[in-house]
Amino acid sequence: MTSLPHKKLRVFSGIQPSGAFTLGNYLGAIRQWVAGLDEKENFFCIVDLHTITVPQEPQDLLRRTREMAAILIACGLDPQKCTLFIQSHVRAHAEGCWILNCVTPVGWLERMTQYKLKSQQQESISTGLLDYPVLQAADILLYDTNEVPVGEDQKQHVELARDIAQRFNNLYGETFVIPEPIIPKLGARVKALDDPATKMSKSKAYIRGHAIRLADGPDEIRYAIKRAVTDPGREIVFSDAPEKAGVNNLLEIYELLTGYTREAIEAHFAGKGYGHLKQEVAGVVIEALRPIRERYLSFIADPVELDRLLAVGAERARAVADPKIQEIKRKVGFIV
Ligand code: AMP
Ligand code: TRP
Repeated sequence: MTSLPHKKLRVFSGIQPSGAFTLGNYLGAIRQWVAGLDEKENFFCIVDLHTITVPQEPQDLLRRTREMAAILIACGLDPQKCTLFIQSHVRAHAEGCWILNCVTPVGWLERMTQYKLKSQQQESISTGLLDYPVLQAADILLYDTNEVPVGEDQKQHVELARDIAQRFNNLYGETFVIPEPIIPKLGARVKALDDPATKMSKSKAYIRGHAIRLADGPDEIRYAIKRAVTDPGREIVFSDAPEKAGVNNLLEIYELLTGYTREAIEAHFAGKGYGHLKQEVAGVVIEALRPIRERYLSFIADPVELDRLLAVGAERARAVADPKIQEIKRKVGFIV
């Protein structure tokens, strides 16, 4: 028996409640999620189980998980229009991960780029860190997901989820929908302001001047953009050249937030200096983030309401994930 068919395309994505939510997360991920709310059936998961694959301070994790929920709703993920929930509230994720572990060769996991990067940064590597992509596969596959909107850096994990789904289907019969990664063309990689060769990252957002955090006020935003690394030249043009990465990043942020064409933007900044560019980009970012920040602050002030919304989300998620995990257990020969 397979699960009930659904008409609208199913979308599933996850986000870690680690570090501070950045403009990169917003432009690379959340904005796309919000844009698809009406025409698709959406599940958004705050992946706390993934977060503990590297050491966390319990009090920090607790606070950040609520902050993440508040910021996602503030960005426009209306809980009336999508299912927003916390991963650990739905047991099927951990259970599904275990079963999928048993059809996933260790070699597939050792090849993952993110694992290689993250394991270099750890003194002691947890088994969970290696297993991270299998849990992600469980997240996706439990919901018969068609589309997984993610930044470029997550494509490899979604491809692994496809491989795991195919392998399970071959071994036990048709069970899983094969999901597609959906990678936005633009804004797929917002660069760090202090090092435009690398991506703006939540986990480094505590470093002043690295990122723009969505909860930042005007002064912090101006500070970070003013200090952004550029180059000794003076041309304000979109460019792939490594030495222009800083200016290019500022221009892309401006492009993403204003929606102007590249030609219009280059014409607008022609003959102007980097100081001027930074001032204008800061102004655009401040205005774009102002309403998000205001909504965020009002949710943070009301954790009871926030927890209520998350409980409703978890219930809706369980309504899909629980029957699916039963189906999976039956397929592998468990008494259910
Ligand atoms: P993470 O911050 O790594 O948990 O990522 C959460 C989501 O935001 C994923 O879909 C990422 O690919 C996306 N994302 C994170 N940082 C950036 C960035 N600098 N530019 C674009 N997308 C990003
Ligand atoms: N690994 C993803 C990231 O760091 C987060 C994530 C967990 C996810 N489960 C997911 C993304 C399922 C998409 C689908 O960005």
